[in-house]
Amino acid sequence: MKLIIKNDYQAMCEWAAQHIADAINNHKADRPFVLGLPTGSSPLGVYKRLIEMNKAGEVTFKNVITFNMDEYIGLPKEHDQSYWYFMHHNFFDHVDIPAENINILDGMAEDPEAECRRYEEKIAACGGIDLFMGGAGVDGHIAFNEPFTSLTSRTGVRALTEDTLIANSRFFDNDPNKVPKTAVSVGVGTVCDARQVLLLISGHNKARALRHCVEGGVDHAWTISALQLHPDGIIACDEAACGELKVDTYRYFKEIYKNEK
Ligand code: GLP
Repeated sequence: MKLIIKNDYQAMCEWAAQHIADAINNHKADRPFVLGLPTGSSPLGVYKRLIEMNKAGEVTFKNVITFNMDEYIGLPKEHDQSYWYFMHHNFFDHVDIPAENINILDGMAEDPEAECRRYEEKIAACGGIDLFMGGAGVDGHIAFNEPFTSLTSRTGVRALTEDTLIANSRFFDNDPNKVPKTAVSVGVGTVCDARQVLLLISGHNKARALRHCVEGGVDHAWTISALQLHPDGIIACDEAACGELKVDTYRYFKEIYKNEK
């Protein structure tokens, strides 16, 4: 696993955006580049930077297919807290990606399990995901794979934990009762099938999750730790998120990746 430590949130986002743009620009296969994407506050700075790069002609999304990680069950697309709305408002509406290349799980599907199977099949039909960007919850979840979700899980219906309902209530009038209690989400296994996984971990409140991911064992209580089994897993983080790492661990990663632009 690579751990790229940047000074602050802004520098972390700059690095991640450049990394994604480089991956798209260096893509040689005669099929579109397939990019997995998250919602949340962590990727916002990356989306902002990618929009700037797109407008400056430094990267194009014309030959990119995207798959989002997750969606709340029961929120229509137009709801301002649906992940569909988030992605269009914060990213897709501002770049040159063809609408038909955007894939987001349908949280209003009549048969959510069938919707999840369809999603997995579509990912496979597109040749698999080249790069999956993600974030993490304070309890170390990736997508909506809460603690104790199987590390080999596939796309499916997930129940949100109390911790996540409280954390996400900031977008629902600070009322956890207003947060949808279930979601459709790619599995830990779906994320780890991507050829490369890039997770963004920023801020003091993620320090515990980062410690478990980097220094703990592979543990279904911290689904983010599955990254340890990935052949090409990268974490981009800021200094604040490193607060619980051992000094030795911190120094090791600072030293070996000091030349990462
Ligand atoms: C939600 C999403 C996750 C995201 C997490 C952290 O639970 N399902 O994909 O990583 O929030 O969000 P933030 O980046 O806002 O801390």
